[in-house]
Amino acid sequence: MDKTKIEKQLKKIKDDVLKCQKCSLYQTRKFPVIGQGNHQAKIVFIGEAPGASENLTGVPFCGAAGKILDELLESVGIKREDVYIANILKCRPPGNRNPEKKEIEACTPYLEKQIEIINPKVICALGNFSTGFILEKYGLKDQIQGISKIHGNIFDPVNESGSLKIISFYHPAAAAYNSNMKEILKKDFEILKEFKD
Ligand code: URA
Ligand code: SF4
Repeated sequence: MDKTKIEKQLKKIKDDVLKCQKCSLYQTRKFPVIGQGNHQAKIVFIGEAPGASENLTGVPFCGAAGKILDELLESVGIKREDVYIANILKCRPPGNRNPEKKEIEACTPYLEKQIEIINPKVICALGNFSTGFILEKYGLKDQIQGISKIHGNIFDPVNESGSLKIISFYHPAAAAYNSNMKEILKKDFEILKEFKD
């Protein structure tokens, strides 16, 4: 897809999300977090949902978890502006509760369109919710296990003609108070060195 068409299609999603009322989360959000980064990124990161800081800014991973994500990206020489970052849900679940099934169903068509337009080589699923959604979407439901079992694994989608890879990671927020977890994340992020150029 050419650049103008990509911009036009992503803009349409942005406009739709800004007025979206498909689930009740629109009632408590300040800003939806639509996604940020390179619109032709090779690597796309999918988090869970906006937290308090993201809700106030509309920028993904701009709070504590984002600081860790930035550190992880830097550790493997990847610039944030070269990747694309989005979430399973665009609006913040109050009190950072888990996303509900009906919210995921209502919201993920936006994410699926974004992925289709950006057409990355690698999808990095951050945490359990993201990993579960992405593996199911790409025909890998039978591979879904807890993140402690499958973090750092590279998956090949079923029925994809291209060379898309899916990699599962612990959510960066899990490393906020756990240096051991951060080391595991750093080690898993090394996989991305192979895909960054
Ligand atoms: N956690 C997420 O999963 N996404 C964000 O954007 C911020 C925190
Ligand atoms: Fe719409 Fe998604 Fe926000 Fe729900 S979370 S209101 S589906 S943009």
